[in-house]
Amino acid sequence: MENHHSRYYLTFLLPVLALVVVVLNVSNAQPLVPALFIFGDSVVDVGNNNQLHTIVKANFPPYGRDFKNHRSTGRFCNGKLASDFTAENLGFTSYPPPYLNLRVKGNNLLNGANFASAASGYYDFTAKLWDAIPLSQQLEHYKECQNILVEVAGQSNASSIISGAIHLVSAGNSDFIQNYYINPLLNKVYTADQFSDILIQHYANFIQACFPHISTLQHNLYALGARRIGVTTLPPMGCVPAAITLFGSDSNVCVARLNTDALNFNMKLNSTSESLLRNLPGLKLVILDIYQPLYELVTKPSENGFFEARKACCGTGLVETAILCNKDSIGTCANASEYVFWDGFHPSESANKVLADDLIAAGISLIS
Ligand SMILES: *[C@@H]1O[C@H](CO)[C@@H](O)[C@H](O)[C@H]1NC(C)=O
Ligand SMILES: *[C@@H]1O[C@H](CO)[C@@H](O)[C@H](O)[C@H]1NC(C)=O
Ligand SMILES: *[C@@H]1O[C@H](CO)[C@@H](O)[C@H](O)[C@H]1NC(C)=O
Repeated sequence: MENHHSRYYLTFLLPVLALVVVVLNVSNAQPLVPALFIFGDSVVDVGNNNQLHTIVKANFPPYGRDFKNHRSTGRFCNGKLASDFTAENLGFTSYPPPYLNLRVKGNNLLNGANFASAASGYYDFTAKLWDAIPLSQQLEHYKECQNILVEVAGQSNASSIISGAIHLVSAGNSDFIQNYYINPLLNKVYTADQFSDILIQHYANFIQACFPHISTLQHNLYALGARRIGVTTLPPMGCVPAAITLFGSDSNVCVARLNTDALNFNMKLNSTSESLLRNLPGLKLVILDIYQPLYELVTKPSENGFFEARKACCGTGLVETAILCNKDSIGTCANASEYVFWDGFHPSESANKVLADDLIAAGISLIS
């Protein structure tokens, strides 16, 4: 009985509570936290890669066709990312700007910034393969951004902005999909489990310097003053359309091996985070699960208001992403709202909305 009630509480009341908090807050027009800083890969990149010499970009149509003013900002989506919805849910009236955008200066950074770069990951070499910004450099940019904050807001205001801010991290996906699975220098040397262990050590170093012997980082989030951190899990990598096409050996169902790798990584992510929490006073660190909600959408689309989960909207929907998803792609759907995936690797805006609702419920302890 007891158990049943607490399950009910967790499943139904917590999200409701989160929404009530959000609604109350929005009516006060005051965000729940002072700022939002974002790190990671294409799941959260809002245009940093536009400034780079890389083929991993999305700043052209049809990307962004359902975004404000139909603008292709560099987001790997037809519209908003899950992190955009999260910013709205937290009461922000604008999204943290891409840090590399040259027009972003001083006062623009008071509510946070976005350092993410598509094709980046916990393993610095992943970003280097694709000319993206490694996490080590994203931390350098954050350090630089903190110096600017001190200039515009003063040391004590800057410190409270940083310690009160939510730091959102999304990485690991490209380490597998755009590196490990296609790179014999890795997959002939390490099992997926061993590669996960390496990634997890780099993750731990990103939060705090735990494994200095393999560290490529000058800084870490904890030492830079971050105290509220949300880290997304790996998605069901075997269910994204391009993964089924490339690794599914002519089958139309999710690639079990890739999903197993993701779940295994996610377990390690959880236990390492628990140990970080035990060792770092004052830290709030939450793992934000996107595996389960996305898996639900893919395996039961119609129960969730979607009709297509195998094919993405862009092009044939089987592989196209980045430069291969462009205005000349043949077959792009007219309306992405009932597609789980926008391109071969990335969820549509409507799927991101569902993911974001789960994120706010899971991340509630970061705003209390
Ligand atoms: C710090 O914040 C307070 C309250 O928002 C503000 O009045 C003050 O001007 C800020 N200090 C600086 C140096 O900007
Ligand atoms: C790890 O997983 C457990 C069980 O799902 C959960 O209660 C806990 O909050 C997770 N740890 C973190 C740091 O999110
Ligand atoms: C797409 O379809 C949904 C309903 O499925 C509808 O609400 C929406 O207006 C459509 N969007 C466009 C751009 O036609």
